[in-house]
Amino acid sequence: MKIIMLGAPGAGKGTQAKKIAGKYEIPHISTGDIFRANIKNGTELGKKAKTYMDQGLLVPDELVCDLVVDRVQQKDCERGYILDGFPRTIPQAESLDKALAELGESVDFAINVEVPDENIVNRMGGRRACVGCGATYHLAYAPTKTEGICDTCGKELILRDDDKPETVQKRLGVYHEQTQPLIAYYSKKGILKDVDGTMDMEAVFQAIVKILGA
Ligand code: AP5
Ligand code: MG
Repeated sequence: MKIIMLGAPGAGKGTQAKKIAGKYEIPHISTGDIFRANIKNGTELGKKAKTYMDQGLLVPDELVCDLVVDRVQQKDCERGYILDGFPRTIPQAESLDKALAELGESVDFAINVEVPDENIVNRMGGRRACVGCGATYHLAYAPTKTEGICDTCGKELILRDDDKPETVQKRLGVYHEQTQPLIAYYSKKGILKDVDGTMDMEAVFQAIVKILGA
């Protein structure tokens, strides 16, 4: 099963992608997580990506497409995968489709998690990410057992650099301009599935499971 998660920044793509990956035992591939891991490790890719991410801009397609096309051809992706944060532009979607077509494959579902912009700003301000394992929490909606400490690995939680309110506004603008056109792109292919992302996390998850099937 090959799944794409679409939605604005903070819509809950990562939250749901992790749960889906667990249930269906397929890898969760987040381009944002890949870039953040590269930034943390000080790689060349990380250095390049950071200059765009900190401004709320998209990393150029040429730094993203090959990376994802390589990743989805690794052995653990044989039974499928869930892509979170990719594609984010029409050229990215086209490059994925082209690479899959060469393998005789195609995307099965594009899940569009719908959340209005007003709710997004509130969610991002409360999000906290672990510096160690990257796990994501929310001060109000997904709190940790001990404040400021990751439940999974015990490391410190931080506000992501790009979650500051002015950068969130920029990211929302970029989303509407460059990523939202993908909704029509996948709708035309007949694989778009809309989900109401304003429900609580478990209700959103159940709605997605209903679409994907048991
Ligand atoms: P990325 O890491 O993908 O960020 P994003 O798309 O902006 O999305 P987020 O991770 O911020 O939000 P999410 O939808 O995963 O929400 P989450 O589940 O955390 O990308 C970061 C940057 O990398 C980009 O800006 C770009 O520069 C670059 N990049 C990445 N991929 C790229 C690509 N393909 N091309 C070019 N550049 C790329 O949830 C948010 C918060 O809300 C959490 O605190 C969570 O606990 C809470 N929450 C989740 N669901 C609910 C719910 N139902 N109710 C209440 N709270 C909820
Ligand atoms: Mg995410």
